[in-house]
Amino acid sequence: MSASIEITNVTKHYGALSVLDDISLSIKAGEFVVFLGPSGCGKSTLLRMIAGLEDVTAGTISVADRRVDTLPPGKRGVAMVFQSYALYPHMTVAQNMSFGLENIGLPKPEIERRVSQAAATLEIAHLLDRKPAKLSGGQRQRVAIGRAIVKEPKAFLFDEPLSNLDAALRGRTRLELAQLHARLGSTMIFVTHDQVEAMTLADRIVIMHNRKIEQIGTPMEIYRRPASRFVAGFVGSPAMNFVPLTSVTSNGGTINIGTSGLGDIHAAFHLPSGFSPDGASLGIRAEDVTVLPAGQTGIALKAEVVERLGDRTLIYGHLSDGTKLTAETDGRSEARGGDTLQIALDTTAIHLFDAAGTAHHSEGD
Ligand SMILES: Nc1ncnc2c1ncn2[C@@H]1O[C@H](COP(=O)(O)OP(=O)(O)O)[C@@H](O)[C@H]1O
Ligand SMILES: [Mg+2]
Repeated sequence: MSASIEITNVTKHYGALSVLDDISLSIKAGEFVVFLGPSGCGKSTLLRMIAGLEDVTAGTISVADRRVDTLPPGKRGVAMVFQSYALYPHMTVAQNMSFGLENIGLPKPEIERRVSQAAATLEIAHLLDRKPAKLSGGQRQRVAIGRAIVKEPKAFLFDEPLSNLDAALRGRTRLELAQLHARLGSTMIFVTHDQVEAMTLADRIVIMHNRKIEQIGTPMEIYRRPASRFVAGFVGSPAMNFVPLTSVTSNGGTINIGTSGLGDIHAAFHLPSGFSPDGASLGIRAEDVTVLPAGQTGIALKAEVVERLGDRTLIYGHLSDGTKLTAETDGRSEARGGDTLQIALDTTAIHLFDAAGTAHHSEGD
């Protein structure tokens, strides 16, 4: 069972503090949506307003075409998955999962049916008699999800559920969540500040910043066509490189960009009319910067730190004018800190950002 969720012109104030400003968002039934943004941007507040744990200051929220923002949490048909440390330590796994259902007076056989079905889905049936202290971190997280599943909600709400797990377990649990979503087909909203979790889990990512939604899109739309300089710098690791412009001239479908660090760059690009180089920057990802073989001349990059990741090597350096730039090259690179390397840009992969931070992309990108 899954439901659409409609957020319409929602605003949130805490006293004089304005946290969210006129947020509107339509989530489709069965969709996996991730709220992504830096700490403090209002992700948890928005999720908690959907759950009914916070009031909306203005606006409406509907679940399955029914207005819910005036209903108590238990009547909204959504279930929040809390972090695993919120399990009751003195109760067994089965008791932890059935507790909420006993509270609402569900008959015992129905509770047992739901708990055993959820335990089977999560592959924790053999753990039902254990107390949380005797479980691994990953098992505890699955019990926390089980507590939500037994409520048979129309939508699951997750607030950074993986942040307390170690790196290997985080990766595994992320995969299990994706499988669970495929199996249940439920609507899921997942809050995180981790762009890797967002990229790997989401059907669509909602990027939040400065009390607003900055962009909504599929992971690859957001990666390839970020709407703003903020999004471009926030999604992708290493972060996109930004180089200030000194001039730009447009001639039909091509442009000449002047920069002090990269020199002049010629690219196929439809520049919007009135685009000013003042305060504008060129953006390019490290993977679109090539380190040229020895003997070839391109743009000089002085390497400061070389990070070897096995399959690839990241070169953190600076251009002749001091602008920082990161290049990605293959894992067998012999570059070392202090070397001056020669690089080239893939000019089909450049982005331009105006002074207000609005993005413009190459044709076909
Ligand atoms: N109960 C509260 N009272 C006052 N301010 C709050 C309260 N809860 C959150 N805030 C503020 O609202 C903003 C958004 O918080 P939050 O939604 O928790 O951000 P996020 O989950 O994106 O890190 C922050 O500035 C935070 O300090
Ligand atoms: Mg939060």
